[in-house]
Amino acid sequence: MFSNKVIIITGSTQGIGLKTAELLVRMGARLVINSRSPQKVEATLCYLKEITPHVIGIAGDVSNYEFCLELRKFTIGSFGRIDILINNAGVASSGLMKDIVPNAFEKVVNINLLGSIYPTLACIDEIRQRKGSILFIASVAGIVGLPNYSAYAATKRAIVSLAESLRSELTDDGVFVGINYPGFTENEEQKTMINAKGEEVLLQKRRGIKALSRERTSEKIIEQLQKRKFRMYCSFSAKGVQLMYRIFPQLTLNILRHYRMKISSMQ
Ligand SMILES: NC(=O)c1ccc[n+]([C@@H]2O[C@H](COP(=O)([O-])OP(=O)(O)OC[C@H]3O[C@@H](n4cnc5c(N)ncnc54)[C@H](OP(=O)(O)O)[C@@H]3O)[C@@H](O)[C@H]2O)c1
Repeated sequence: MFSNKVIIITGSTQGIGLKTAELLVRMGARLVINSRSPQKVEATLCYLKEITPHVIGIAGDVSNYEFCLELRKFTIGSFGRIDILINNAGVASSGLMKDIVPNAFEKVVNINLLGSIYPTLACIDEIRQRKGSILFIASVAGIVGLPNYSAYAATKRAIVSLAESLRSELTDDGVFVGINYPGFTENEEQKTMINAKGEEVLLQKRRGIKALSRERTSEKIIEQLQKRKFRMYCSFSAKGVQLMYRIFPQLTLNILRHYRMKISSMQ
């Protein structure tokens, strides 16, 4: 199904994006790798070119619309078309809202929200022509707002609304729009987050949380593209939170309030 499909994955030089790219190139796809760091793009290309020659990469910030136009041009110039866009680039953030400086919010909104909107705007016409797919990577925090994660949760919830609107709008175009909810997934050692001061700092190793492997989360992303399923929950916990919030919204919010200290200490 992915053989010769041209796929852009934003933020694909580590973590879930890289693992998804690796699985897709093994399935015959033509991949466009991206992240802000030219060194990481270069290293990722070296790694993936061991598997296939059909992989290219471009460094740049997806929260910059001009760069997204460049990403589109680069992809079409190299592979002739765009079939699938996976809006994966994102950054974790934490901090109590009373402590968060405005600039921290701005950074999280730019990367997590505009960083999904701008590549979509840049590629939408091309994907419509191809009757292709646009996938957004949300989070459990996009189902219900979690204490200590206001900025992250707000951006991930906004992405869900965006995907819902876009899906309705593109109904007659044969384009698949999906929203993926990864659960806690094992982190790369170099994974960063934005703290309350707006600094991008290394995320501390997760303690006491059972995380899915990156491979498992990536397999769910690929399964979602194959089945063209609008919502995909990657873990039982993500599915559980969604069910709980749908059936017992007030109870869910009360539980989150009760366990706010414990949740705040999770990353
Ligand atoms: N890991 C989890 O447990 C989990 C759970 C739920 C949802 N998610 C979501 O899944 C996605 C991937 O998460 P992950 O854990 O794999 O993250 P990660 O390890 O931090 O990787 C993020 C990738 O995005 C790139 N990136 C960040 N900002 C960018 C920007 N403005 N423009 C272009 N590239 C950018 C990073 O490289 P550069 O720094 O070089 O730009 C990196 O390649 C995110 O949207 C995240 O919110 C993750």
